[in-house]
Amino acid sequence: MYKVNKANSVLGAFIEEIDLSQHLNKKQIEFLYETLAKYEVIFFRNQILSHKDHRRLASAFGEMQTHPAYPTVFNFPEITILENDEENPSKIEEWHTDMTFKKNPPLGSILIGKIIPETGGDTMFSSLSKAYDDLSHEWKGRLEEMNAIHSFEFGFKESLEEEGGRERLADALKENPPVSHPVIKQHPVTGRKIIYVNRLFTSHIEGDDADGSILNFLFDHIHQEKYQYRFSWENNSIAFWDNRSVLHKPVNDYWPQLRRMERITIES
Ligand SMILES: [Fe+2]
Repeated sequence: MYKVNKANSVLGAFIEEIDLSQHLNKKQIEFLYETLAKYEVIFFRNQILSHKDHRRLASAFGEMQTHPAYPTVFNFPEITILENDEENPSKIEEWHTDMTFKKNPPLGSILIGKIIPETGGDTMFSSLSKAYDDLSHEWKGRLEEMNAIHSFEFGFKESLEEEGGRERLADALKENPPVSHPVIKQHPVTGRKIIYVNRLFTSHIEGDDADGSILNFLFDHIHQEKYQYRFSWENNSIAFWDNRSVLHKPVNDYWPQLRRMERITIES
């Protein structure tokens, strides 16, 4: 079978000797799915994928989403373009899990590095299962009872404040009212528990946390370096992350260089 090399002791694995531009059979897809669940994010190097290949690969894992706020590739509405340069610096700075403002947030995303700047532009990943494991018995019990509110409006507040932002995002706002998720979730494949809050979309914990101190404690806890892996991109690298168990965060240190990524997000 393929070579699987751990990225570090916490999360992530590099998979070698597989060509993702080829049609993969059921056994190969199952292998990738299980490896993803186990390591929480899987990485590949030197994968030359057309838009069709990208779509075929992603569709093997589930339905593909269209994102309410980003541009897409012509004729491929499921491929989101994440392009940043001098005129359009990246706005996302926070640790987050994608689209937790939805009732059923995505399973994961397959992100391809198309144009990678000479320096900078890494992506950080952080394990929410390892962060959960380290909580005290008391905290685990307490948090089990809590729910938190996740909101599109909260997450995209900067875009909404821009000139014309509210009009541009009016439909997305209407379609995505705030939702409630348990603070502790269980991963459907591994059964591991995770801490399910993120600074981008979680506005508050319902009920018992009026001053936000519990939520802030959780943010400080899950953002610790010991749960992280920092991935350095090359052209044609791929990161496929399990959105049910990791946080991620871009490192926006490449401005004004161009960085272009293409992403497909898969429904859970
Ligand atoms: Fe993201």
